[in-house]
Amino acid sequence: MSSISPKSFEATQFKPTPNNLEAFFMPFTSNRHFKANPRLFVKAEGMHFTNIDGKQVLDATAGLWCVNAGHGRREISEAVSHQIQELDYSPPFQMGHPAAFELASRVAALAPTGLDHVFFTNSGSESVDTALKIALAYQRAKGQGTRTRLIGRERGYHGVGFGGISVGGMVNNRKWFGTALGGIDHLPHTYNAKEMAYSKGQPAWGAHLADDLERLVALHDASSIAAVIVEPVAGSTGVLIPPKGYLEKLREICTKHGILLIFDEVICGFGRLGTNFGADYFGVTPDLITCAKGLTNGAIPMGGVIVSKQIYDTFMETSAENAIELFHGYTYSAHPVACAAGLAVLDIYKNEGLFDRVKEITPYWENAIHSLKGTRHVIDLRNIGLIGAIELESRPGKPGARAMDAFLKAYEKGMLIRVTGDIIAMSPPFIVEKSHVDQAVSILADVLKSID
Ligand SMILES: Cc1ncc(COP(=O)(O)O)c(C=O)c1O
Repeated sequence: MSSISPKSFEATQFKPTPNNLEAFFMPFTSNRHFKANPRLFVKAEGMHFTNIDGKQVLDATAGLWCVNAGHGRREISEAVSHQIQELDYSPPFQMGHPAAFELASRVAALAPTGLDHVFFTNSGSESVDTALKIALAYQRAKGQGTRTRLIGRERGYHGVGFGGISVGGMVNNRKWFGTALGGIDHLPHTYNAKEMAYSKGQPAWGAHLADDLERLVALHDASSIAAVIVEPVAGSTGVLIPPKGYLEKLREICTKHGILLIFDEVICGFGRLGTNFGADYFGVTPDLITCAKGLTNGAIPMGGVIVSKQIYDTFMETSAENAIELFHGYTYSAHPVACAAGLAVLDIYKNEGLFDRVKEITPYWENAIHSLKGTRHVIDLRNIGLIGAIELESRPGKPGARAMDAFLKAYEKGMLIRVTGDIIAMSPPFIVEKSHVDQAVSILADVLKSID
């Protein structure tokens, strides 16, 4: 007989107030600090969470940049509940269900002209890895199998898959995990405090930074490069807004050398800049777009990769009849429940004109963010669409400590913010009212005055 005693289900009974926080290995969290100072949400409605003590917390970050239409949307929960009763699951390999095709058509209809096929995933990270794989397979299908090199950017964030951390450029997300993918190079990031501090919208300086791609082409030769991936606005690294002309230049160089351009729009997609996608805002069309988050308003995990007709057609035209054209997919690709959520969310965006609402409130938002100029610890403020960043001076030898204190203090004062390094990133739901913006800025000012 085994000496290991079997575990029973008794310990798994759900308790509304957990009395043991130990088992959950929390992601991107200081587990020990959290478990000593728990912060638990139990409910959310509109612009607010309710925490376990019954306190209202203003959501200044749309959860994690995903709850664009605000919390507790009945249209989504009803669609999800209906779908799970009708068809809880359907295998996505060699089978289909109507909502998958409907959602793909509607996402394609929102995407820039020419990008009209959608591959579904379950997260932003999966979207990124999928896009990189599609880029490699496309080059091979075209008879350009030597194009295997992928180019990302310093300070880029492309999720946490091995592809994403390889092309990503945030040191802590990379250094712990070995060599990741080989054959990767990075463009320089686009931030320069001296030239850009306190810019409103796109900084005027820095378009020339895209020329570094020509240097990489000269170094490796275009025939070895499959794709370049960048976030139109780098979000998770602390809101880096592309200089005027930069993305245009990147597009031009990619086209010149037959390199695919991938926009990682996990944050910008679905209205964050007041347009369907960041590509629309900047007037630059990539070959592939990755998305997630706002696609389902964060309610059900889902992501997607939108690809050009040319890419899709290449797969169709170069493989044998009835062969599988792309050897890639997930058990939960186009999950019926996620598709139902996505369809309900697109209806909300359309019916409530939420992307236009972002456009309307952007000038107010910009002024509010920049009103923090001169506040203690602040060394830069930047904004675009419904995104704002407040960069704080770091404490000597303790990068990130000051912003973490700001995060904890803001929570204490009833507001959820997001911090990365010593940068506070703000990205409220699109239903935000001017009064919420005022409240957010006033809490931030108090927080910054009250921390060392
Ligand atoms: C630009 C970008 N790409 C990818 C991801 C990863 O998405 P997920 O956390 O859903 O895997 C994120 C998440 O913040 C992101 O901002």
